[in-house]
Amino acid sequence: MSEFNRRDLLPVLKQNQREKNGLSAADLEELSVRLDLPNNEVFGVTSFYSFLSLKPQGQYVIRICRSLPCHLQEQQMIVQSVRRVLAIGPGELTKDGRFGFEMTDCFGACDLAPALMINDQVYGHLTPGKIERILKRFS
Ligand code: FES
Repeated sequence: MSEFNRRDLLPVLKQNQREKNGLSAADLEELSVRLDLPNNEVFGVTSFYSFLSLKPQGQYVIRICRSLPCHLQEQQMIVQSVRRVLAIGPGELTKDGRFGFEMTDCFGACDLAPALMINDQVYGHLTPGKIERILKRFS
């Protein structure tokens, strides 16, 4: 009997992604064996959650909500500001691999829109200048 069960899968996936700056197919297969869960279940959970990815993530993952309420609150201003400061667009990594940029589903900061996340930290009520200052803190 495994020391884990299904409710452990999501936290373990998130932890693995954080430690390795992304998940690989080999990681999921290894977790499937370690957690004693079917391979397709581990892949299914990974593909369902927009915070999990089979692509390299970068040390700092910038996430912008693509849901309608944020779309109506200057989402494009955030995308353009990140692109101007880091020269990357959604789905891309900086050349040094430090920053990844992802569009994601609602992350619960609707009242702070326009907002973004960098790893687990939410930044809200953004302006182009505020975004530039935030990103430069990580450089
Ligand atoms: S709708 Fe964008 S954070 Fe909730």
